[in-house]
Amino acid sequence: MATERLLALGIETSCDDTACAVVDSEGRVLSTVVSSQLAAHRPYGGVVPEIASREHLRNWPPVSEAALAEAGVSVDQIDVIAATKGPGLIGSLLVGLSIGKAIAYSLHKSFQAVHHLEGHLYSPFLGEGGAVAETPPEEFLGLVVSGGHTSLFQVEAGKPTSLAETRDDAMGEVFDKVGKRLGLPYPQGPRVDELAEWGSGDNLRLAIARCSDGSLDFSYSGLKSQTLMEIQKLEAAGVETNLGPLADADMPRPVLDLLASFRIAAVEEIVERLERLRATRPITMLAVSGGVAANRLLRPRLQEWAEENQIGLRLVPLVYAGDNAAMIAHAALMRHAWGHEDDPLSVDAASRIPL
Ligand code: KG4
Ligand code: ZN
Repeated sequence: MATERLLALGIETSCDDTACAVVDSEGRVLSTVVSSQLAAHRPYGGVVPEIASREHLRNWPPVSEAALAEAGVSVDQIDVIAATKGPGLIGSLLVGLSIGKAIAYSLHKSFQAVHHLEGHLYSPFLGEGGAVAETPPEEFLGLVVSGGHTSLFQVEAGKPTSLAETRDDAMGEVFDKVGKRLGLPYPQGPRVDELAEWGSGDNLRLAIARCSDGSLDFSYSGLKSQTLMEIQKLEAAGVETNLGPLADADMPRPVLDLLASFRIAAVEEIVERLERLRATRPITMLAVSGGVAANRLLRPRLQEWAEENQIGLRLVPLVYAGDNAAMIAHAALMRHAWGHEDDPLSVDAASRIPL
């Protein structure tokens, strides 16, 4: 018996991107619209929560209209309304979740309140260009690397169990903080990645954090401090460390080299944890997601590691690496298929919430 094709409308407003998407029950992304608030937050060097909520309210009408129009459907044709319930900025979450609850309740649609990390976890299985999504295997390892998370999960039959989490800063957060110290505009992470491409990490080796209790947990604040200290040393030696106003051709070589060393250490910490895990259990597949999964060193390094160890690797397609609503709609349809449904009248947003 053929199963009915369902459509989900995804809403994601956990931080500073207002996102809406339409995805079908085979995981085809019919549209994904992300409105970035970069211009609104850039003068402050980072995300300002109050501004983010207000921007979500303002962006939602055009973003949702564009997502529906691009998918060629009206809201009446949608079966499942899905919105991120947390974690994230509470004001931002409230905007998207309230809109989702209101649409679902007033139009009598099925409702799914999705955990942000659940969205990221399954995003490496999404296809591009309207392709059907791959069905995730019964068991896989999920790595989420973003501005808020550095988390490793064992996922079994749709149930994620946490294996490791950062004890302090998230990987993306440290890219942002190092970039901010160098006077780079928000969001600093992708730019630090780009500048690191031009440097060489051969001359300076920065230490990778290891937890003394043998845990697999991550820790990035030590690497951040080492890097900030190295920046200070360069500054004391007369090297220009305010990169903001500089043209690409004028970027000082010692700073580029330092960023290359920083990026190597950041990526090798991930590989070190995976290696230690591999020594204790067989790994068949690793699925990598989150904004930092776009990193130009992390991607090839994990590819090399996976090939060496004959482990299946799914790197999130670049379009779904950063926050987006397609991953929320996709996770919602999987939850729907597993028989789950949320009551739009009783779900609340939460800034911190375990998966
Ligand atoms: O998943 P995401 O869009 O939002 C969160 O849930 O945090 O990730 C954003 C984070 C930011 O910290 C951003 O600087 C970082 O991902 N990021 C990168 C790169 N692209 C984005 N960090 C390192 N290299 C990149 N290429
Ligand atoms: Zn995210």
